[in-house]
Amino acid sequence: MREAESIIIIPGYGMAVAQAQHVLREMGDQLKKHGVSVKYAIHPVAGRMPGHMNVLLAEANVPYDEVFELEDINGEFAQADVAFIIGANDVVNPAAKTDKSSPIYGMPVFDIDKAKTIFFIKRSMGGQGYAGVDNDVFYMDQTMMLLADAKKMVEDINKALAD
Ligand code: TAP
Repeated sequence: MREAESIIIIPGYGMAVAQAQHVLREMGDQLKKHGVSVKYAIHPVAGRMPGHMNVLLAEANVPYDEVFELEDINGEFAQADVAFIIGANDVVNPAAKTDKSSPIYGMPVFDIDKAKTIFFIKRSMGGQGYAGVDNDVFYMDQTMMLLADAKKMVEDINKALAD
């Protein structure tokens, strides 16, 4: 990630559960020191209540000008080096665009599959989440699954970035 030019971070319900917002902002700060462009992408129904992610990122002092709504940032994934998914699933599931039998079909989702590299932090390979559906992105060639509690994993990333 230190070598990336641009990283888009997508937080979801699991970031809230893990209370990872503070260490996440520290990660963003470290990356910016290395010259990386860091943006946070917020889906309107990420988490479990309206504004859930915005409140947590604000609590962690993430600058407002780094936080973007779905429709304002979705066109940028094709140019992004890294899509960094932390505790989200439904809001980044391409089945919403392609699988008419999916319970989330028709919901707008982030086009993360267009990013060069995808980091996906969650605790298991299962489709856990509100809708409980599997996500093809877990199995894509450019995806790295980082299976751990979100806070623990970001703390480890921060230590590695500081080395
Ligand atoms: P979800 O699809 O619910 O996915 C959350 C993910 O977080 C899961 O895949 C889970 O996987 C992971 N997770 C849980 N605890 C974790 C931890 N401690 N560390 C790391 N990962 C953890 O989340 P989303 O993408 O934010 O989507 C929100 C969903 O909630 C949508 O379907 C939306 O419609 C629904 N909803 C939203 C609202 C509002 S207004 N925001 C209201 C009601 C319903 P593991 O278990 O493998 O870790």
